Amino acid sequence: MTKLSVNLNKVALLRNTRNIGIPSITKMAKICIEAGANGITVHPRPDQRHIRPSDVYDLAEVVSSVEFNIEGNPLESSFMEIVRRVKPTQCTLVPDTPDTFTSDSGWDLTQNHERLLPIIQELQSLGCRVSLFMDADIEQICLVPATGAERIELYTEPYATAFRENHNLEATWQQFAQAAEKSQELGLGVNAGHDLNLANLAKFCTIPNILEVSIGHALTAEALEMGFAHTVRQYIAILLK
Ligand code: PXP
Repeated sequence: MTKLSVNLNKVALLRNTRNIGIPSITKMAKICIEAGANGITVHPRPDQRHIRPSDVYDLAEVVSSVEFNIEGNPLESSFMEIVRRVKPTQCTLVPDTPDTFTSDSGWDLTQNHERLLPIIQELQSLGCRVSLFMDADIEQICLVPATGAERIELYTEPYATAFRENHNLEATWQQFAQAAEKSQELGLGVNAGHDLNLANLAKFCTIPNILEVSIGHALTAEALEMGFAHTVRQYIAILLK
């Protein structure tokens, strides 16, 4: 079965709009784990707009029964400081700049191979599995084994857009399927993430042997949509008394 790692960034974004600690990141992590999630993902960005370093340290205490995946750009010093302290199960390295709205492309390994090599070695010496965020681009994927990374995470936004707009869907899915197959031939494990949701996930996962999907934005939005009616009823029950 493909493992689900729940990304809690958007929960932190909501929490950060007040100073009273709700929703609690650790409580949400426990709810996800109790519901069967196989992992928890966070992406602490340098501007701390959602997950803060303190969240990562708090989560490390409560997610020991599942995989802890920390995403980020290791060329930012704060990322390495955090992972050296936490030693998560997996580090997903993402080439995003500090002001990026959201991760929007995979690594260009022609440019970054030399810089990534010592970082990947250090992360592995800490006991972390390393996954590189990659576009479904076979030329680039062929450069991954030389970095020593064990996995890639396919950047699925183009698939999600093709699905949402019902435009070029089969061709786009094929491109991802071929990228995944090539990665597996190269001995790489394949994860996937970005803009996956309840509608588009099943088709994506017809690609064989996707090891893990990490999902945050849509999962949070869907949880709000599915949970609001239940919560509103509880408020009304109080007011009826
Ligand atoms: N993978 C990476 C590298 C990301 O940066 C993100 C967003 O933080 C995700 C997966 C999850 O994307 P989404 O929030 O759209 O599910």
